[in-house]
Amino acid sequence: MCGIVAIVGQTAVAPLIVDALKRLEYRGYDSAGVATVAQGKLARRRAEGKLVNLESRLQAEPLDGNIGIGHTRWATHGVPNETNAHPHFSNDVAVVHNGIIENFAELRTELAADGYEFTSQTDTEVVAHLVSRELARGAGPVAAAHEALKRLEGAFALAIMFRGDEDLIVGARNGPPLAVGHGEGEMFLGSDAIALAPFTNSITYLEDGDWAVVRRGSFEIFDIEGKPVARKRQQSLGTSFMVDKGNRRHFMEKEIHEQPEVISHTLAHYVDFTASTSRPLDLPFDFARIDRLALSACGTAYLSGLVGKYWFERIARLPVDIDIASEFRYREMPISQNSAALFISQSGETADTLASLRYCRKAGVPIGAIVNVRESTIARESDVVLPTLAGPEIGVASTKAFTCQLSVLASLAVRAGVARGTISPDEEKALVRALSEAPRYANQVLKLEEQIEKVSRELSHYRHVLYLGRDTNFPLAMEGALKLKEISYIHAEGYAAGELKHGPIALIDENMPVIVIAPHDRIFEKTVSNMQEVAARGGKIILITDRKGAEQATVDTMETIVLPDVPEIITPIVYALPIQMLAYFTAVFMGTDVDQPRNLAKSVTVE
Ligand code: AGP
Repeated sequence: MCGIVAIVGQTAVAPLIVDALKRLEYRGYDSAGVATVAQGKLARRRAEGKLVNLESRLQAEPLDGNIGIGHTRWATHGVPNETNAHPHFSNDVAVVHNGIIENFAELRTELAADGYEFTSQTDTEVVAHLVSRELARGAGPVAAAHEALKRLEGAFALAIMFRGDEDLIVGARNGPPLAVGHGEGEMFLGSDAIALAPFTNSITYLEDGDWAVVRRGSFEIFDIEGKPVARKRQQSLGTSFMVDKGNRRHFMEKEIHEQPEVISHTLAHYVDFTASTSRPLDLPFDFARIDRLALSACGTAYLSGLVGKYWFERIARLPVDIDIASEFRYREMPISQNSAALFISQSGETADTLASLRYCRKAGVPIGAIVNVRESTIARESDVVLPTLAGPEIGVASTKAFTCQLSVLASLAVRAGVARGTISPDEEKALVRALSEAPRYANQVLKLEEQIEKVSRELSHYRHVLYLGRDTNFPLAMEGALKLKEISYIHAEGYAAGELKHGPIALIDENMPVIVIAPHDRIFEKTVSNMQEVAARGGKIILITDRKGAEQATVDTMETIVLPDVPEIITPIVYALPIQMLAYFTAVFMGTDVDQPRNLAKSVTVE
């Protein structure tokens, strides 16, 4: 996802902007740039690749100016190179943009016919020329920006700067987030509070359709009609977390190791560890009265929801409809008025998840958001926020957010069971006691990293991997495959173990390691026979199980990773750690960019 930083400041802004952009690196990007206005001149420096390349460019050719806009680009239209890097210019106008201008082709044709020359393949450049054309027609900068915004369709966060006015930046938001930062005699715009943390923690988030006129000593927000609107000014949490790797090589490694602590924080919000009871929640629906629950999310968040489905249906006897958000939003699923919807998202900005939420909003369904960023759009558009307390997750591959999402879902399933009378007080106590053990077991599993690192070195020699699991370990098999493929670039698939005979077994030979996630439970025997089928065809098995499973797995394995015996309900939480560590160490051996894997963004705010 692209990142935006803009400053109307008191001192030279170019180095400040680059530093702030570094706090947005976690979003994933492939080029960057900065522009300033100084002595009546508009100038820019841009570079392909990481921000260090832009810094070298600025060292060689410094930029003056106390007003500037900067950008990290994740290519949507046009290859990632310097020509397509933002900011984009048109005569006296400079623009940076996050999102997609959906009607850019027709605008490009119209502007070209008016004599505007395009130098890039980006959709963004049409914004610069639109504003420039309005200036040429006699409009002032603010009116020119407003007229241009009215022509745009699609998702955008924008910052627009003018050669003729060194005390003005116009910001706009329709989809991807944009915040105004309030300084002392200076003002800021940024994609999120983390970017603005070095300057201020006093933040005003723009809403969809808002645009802002920002000057050193003032700011005004308008709706698309040009009517002034008031938005809440708040203290941002973003500054209370210092986002650094500590003594770890990667953010992902740090975040894997933070899990015992953040799982505990999250659970404590939902269950009373001392009384072993689930806490009452102020929800916009009553679990006892709804007849269905809809869940929707993307990627890893979706897979946490898939585990949640098993829990809601088994513990609370509550039927769950779950779908990936990009399908949910177009499927036009009939939604009963006697239902509720939960949306799961680490960033709280994922476009497809937000669109699914709005589909349910239109259907009049009460909405809950399980999010890690409480100030996010999905949080703000929900009736209730059910926070994961994982702290900022910087690594693109989601780890601690996943286990915190599972912790919330497990707690909610217990809460629903209490409300629906499907579990007794003793059963509630037993389940909450089991949940409260999750941090301790997670901590024990982290101690297996030496063995897991060793088997990961093996794994890094293969090009295809299959993950198998049953019941709540089936979504875990898919999550393990997602983790491996997204950071090591090794092709991997997660399958229900029972599906092996229905096709995937054709893949099995000595070049296809099979990772089997199978604690010793009531269906363990079924998975043993799957493993025997794999072994009979020369497949190499990595078994992740517990002591009993290791004893009863009558099959030769490449490696058996033995976890502590854990209560069934927390198996998905605890077994998530070895699959995260396997992916992490394999990626390290592959030498990939673990925290910012190629082509990926931390939050996908475009369709
Ligand atoms: C997970 O490791 C990926 N980074 C990706 O699948 C992610 O889970 C997905 O894009 C959803 O993001 P969200 O939780 O911020 O909505």
